[in-house]
Amino acid sequence: MVRVLRVDPRHPAPEVLAQAGEVLRRGGLVAFPTETVYGLGADAFNPQAVARIFQVKGRPASDPVIVHIASHAQLHRVAAEVPAWAEPLIERWMPGPLTLVLPKRPEVPDVVTAGKPTVAVRMPAHPVALGLIRAAGTPVAAPSANRFGHTSPTRAEHVLADLGEAVDVVLDAGPTPIGVESTILDATRFPPRLLRPGGAPKEALEALLGVAIPVVAAAVREEEVMAPGMLPRHYAPQGSALWLFVGPVQPARAWMQATARDLHRAGRRVGLLAFDEDLAVLGDALPAEVAVVRLGPEADPEAVARRLFAALREMEAQGVEVILAREPQSPGLGLAVRDRLRRAADRIFS
Ligand code: TXA
Ligand code: MG
Repeated sequence: MVRVLRVDPRHPAPEVLAQAGEVLRRGGLVAFPTETVYGLGADAFNPQAVARIFQVKGRPASDPVIVHIASHAQLHRVAAEVPAWAEPLIERWMPGPLTLVLPKRPEVPDVVTAGKPTVAVRMPAHPVALGLIRAAGTPVAAPSANRFGHTSPTRAEHVLADLGEAVDVVLDAGPTPIGVESTILDATRFPPRLLRPGGAPKEALEALLGVAIPVVAAAVREEEVMAPGMLPRHYAPQGSALWLFVGPVQPARAWMQATARDLHRAGRRVGLLAFDEDLAVLGDALPAEVAVVRLGPEADPEAVARRLFAALREMEAQGVEVILAREPQSPGLGLAVRDRLRRAADRIFS
């Protein structure tokens, strides 16, 4: 039986954290909020418990999970080496939505790292996540708390819809503040490489390090894939096909309008993932039956990131067959939003 425990996102009750921490210590699974998305946690040093994460998610054993820590001492319990050049990153982004891939210590079980010599580490900036890790007294291995291949959960309801009874405890602290997963940097080399754009903007990391950070995540050809999460279909919404337009705003809007009309005439249930600016222009030109979900202003990529995954799930819930979307042009978190949209896309138009 899953126990859902509500907690205040800023001041979680210590007795609730203690209860959930005890479940982790005994080898159980706890879903918990981070500032990015909800994670499905197990004691990182308990291989059986971590193996259960893979089973519950339907995740292939070849896809390693991130180890979540609550202190700098724990960083050194999982990473064998932390390069001196990474210190400014650690100072600024731990806690924060940044994951560093580092050489692992031998004590970290192979099931966590999928047998790799490296470990992905992050210190979440969320009082509930930090409190839980402290209460458990151990680093917590956690992927996003969704079924493998589905959109990451930004609310406890998403976790329950995907995993339900298979989890021991769900800590429900409401919606997560960032809404897209952490930025992953391969820190085994300098300059580091970006394995996945996310909550920590690439520009901010480059400014801190004073170097350009090459992006590996753009490569989707199988032989170049470094993190299995980069596979193009990884974030595909279930049941609805996503059609994405890549290119300038005016042709994108013309495409949305014409495609929505054609699909609607063909009897398909159509949804539009729209920026506020699009609706101001397209509003009246769309058939009334088109399901419209707002992503917020294109000019505010933080707001868009916060809503993106819930918006995709909303489309599924409305039984939409084809979702039409366009890429935002914005900097900062715009890169992560473009990445998630491309991975979720069944067809790309330009
Ligand atoms: O924001 C986040 O990062 C969320 C929250 C829960 O912390 N977690 C998350 O985990 O997104 P997951 O498992 O859904 O994605 C982790 C990604 C995967 O693509 C995995 O392949 C990659 O991290 N990864 C893990 N360990 C790695 C390693 N040693 N080397 C390269 N990539 C690694
Ligand atoms: Mg995931």
